[in-house]
Amino acid sequence: MAKYECSQHMHDFLHELPKCEHHVHLEGTLGPDLLFPLAKRNNITLPDNFPKTPEALQIRYDQFADLEDFLGFYYIGMGVLITEEDFFELAWMYFNKAKKDGLHHAEVFFDPQGHLERGIDMDVVVGGFNRACEKAEAELGITTKLIMCLLRHLPVNNCMDTIELAKPHFAKGTIHGLGLDSSEKPFPPHLFIECYAKVAEHFPNVGLTAHAGEEGGPDFIINSLDKLNVTRIDHGVNSYKDDALLARLAENQTLLSLCPLSNVKLQVVKDVSELPIQKWLDANVPFSINSDDPAYFGGYILDNYIVVHTRFGFDLKTWVKIAKNGVHGSWITDARKKEILDAIDAVYLKYQPLLE
Ligand code: ADE
Ligand code: ZN
Repeated sequence: MAKYECSQHMHDFLHELPKCEHHVHLEGTLGPDLLFPLAKRNNITLPDNFPKTPEALQIRYDQFADLEDFLGFYYIGMGVLITEEDFFELAWMYFNKAKKDGLHHAEVFFDPQGHLERGIDMDVVVGGFNRACEKAEAELGITTKLIMCLLRHLPVNNCMDTIELAKPHFAKGTIHGLGLDSSEKPFPPHLFIECYAKVAEHFPNVGLTAHAGEEGGPDFIINSLDKLNVTRIDHGVNSYKDDALLARLAENQTLLSLCPLSNVKLQVVKDVSELPIQKWLDANVPFSINSDDPAYFGGYILDNYIVVHTRFGFDLKTWVKIAKNGVHGSWITDARKKEILDAIDAVYLKYQPLLE
């Protein structure tokens, strides 16, 4: 395991470096400290075998065996969200936390099917999350996009019904993107062709992405590109196993939204140093660094940047390239891209005399 120092100056640089997050599940920002009070406030009875205190729950969160094991806790956790205010508060807390980490732009996932099946209205979920997005733009200067994920372990007709319910939000732009998450290996991308085709047909401006290559092989990534027409891949770790795929990702500048701490917690790799980050850089495959489910995996966006630095020891220019690739891969206007790119250059110029 390579270990590099993260000096105080380097820490400050990574902190100030303007960051874009493309892979955070809003429900994954719900930690043990909020879960128990919300369960009490909303009269939710947690399962009998569920840990009884935030401390005991945190200990369990430190021992996920794999994605499936984590997802069991994730779906129970989101079950304490009931009112519009709950959804608003959760997202607002995330935006404040991420702002302190140097976040400038966030494209955030949510899982409506995990709420619809409990009798919560689509408009309650989107209403609360969207109110937090608007407040983050107005008060924190963070630009935001909401991405609706389909739960791939649910039947396709349930996914199609969810798209139908989301149509007014796609039309208004309150939902900007479509994603695909949950248990990967048993549910390959081709199952969802109809869902992605429907959204693309009715809403050509909606961004398309999918979790692929977290536990699934490179074929899951290739099929997400070929059959779902996604322009971004969430995780994409296993792309490193296929050189032709790497060349294709580089050629099209398809962004991988990497989640280093998540990959360790879900046993995708034993240590962040095992991630093929140098290979992606050498192959010119763009990636961003993200937190996935920060309340479950022990770190928000800055923690993920720092752990990558301690394992790879990149120089300033490499960090600037990583940050700029995140801007180029964002679903924002050219004017907004320029603002963030200029802010990255300013931070580089500030730290260059200290670190080069
Ligand atoms: N839902 C929340 N986090 C996820 C992840 N890392 N992979 C798949 N589905 C998820
Ligand atoms: Zn994810």
